[in-house]
Amino acid sequence: MKPVRGELVVVPDAEAFAEQGARLFAEAAAAAGERFLACLAGGSTPRALYERLAGAPWRDTIDWARVDLVLGDERFVAPEDEKSNVRMIREALIAHLPVAPRLHPVPFAGLTVDQAAAAYQRDLIALHGAARLDPARPVFDLCLLGMGDDGHTASLLPGQEELLGERQRWVVPVTTGRPEPRVTLTYPILESARLVVFLVSGAGKREMLDRVLGGTDRDVPASRLNPGGRLVWLADRAAAGRWAG
Ligand code: 6PG
Repeated sequence: MKPVRGELVVVPDAEAFAEQGARLFAEAAAAAGERFLACLAGGSTPRALYERLAGAPWRDTIDWARVDLVLGDERFVAPEDEKSNVRMIREALIAHLPVAPRLHPVPFAGLTVDQAAAAYQRDLIALHGAARLDPARPVFDLCLLGMGDDGHTASLLPGQEELLGERQRWVVPVTTGRPEPRVTLTYPILESARLVVFLVSGAGKREMLDRVLGGTDRDVPASRLNPGGRLVWLADRAAAGRWAG
């Protein structure tokens, strides 16, 4: 069976999931030009991938001095808060690297969530070098995304049509639907990537992934991402279910 959009890569277990994810990251880095700009997913699934990247051989195959890392979304909490995505990325990846990549966290101190979203958008525009998106020049070399069991991705949440329909702003505040406010990138910039990889693991995601891959639920946020470049669904067997072949 082929997914309604993109390519499905199924791996047997969590270890293979982290390994394949690290491999996809390293291959995208190798294929990039003088700079590799990657958008990282938050949540719990990517942690093992980031830890795998921080170890041999992947750590040593990537020229981290050429790497810029941004976040696809962030919980609007202090960077040392245990809920913080940037804390997770620092702990799982950055702290173990021989050379530090340029990590661009969502600003927090002294800002409202609206101000933080606007500031992050300015940061992304500066990184990209233009305020307009051009399909011929994607913003990201790689965009890693997770998916919730409700089909959300980044902090694009089901039913929040104003955010899901945003086509001008690259970054928006999310003030309902989660215990803490969020800052999230929007579809236009998440789709502006040479390669998008959805990271989906665990039996809890199986039912939603089945609906998204089969195209039977085109309304959930994960179904509505329509990348300009390559799209890969990386799933372990537990999440892939009948799609495991
Ligand atoms: C977040 C993430 C979020 C995550 C999904 C899946 O800040 O929580 O960006 O979009 O990717 O919720 O989360 P898990 O990987 O923890 O299942």
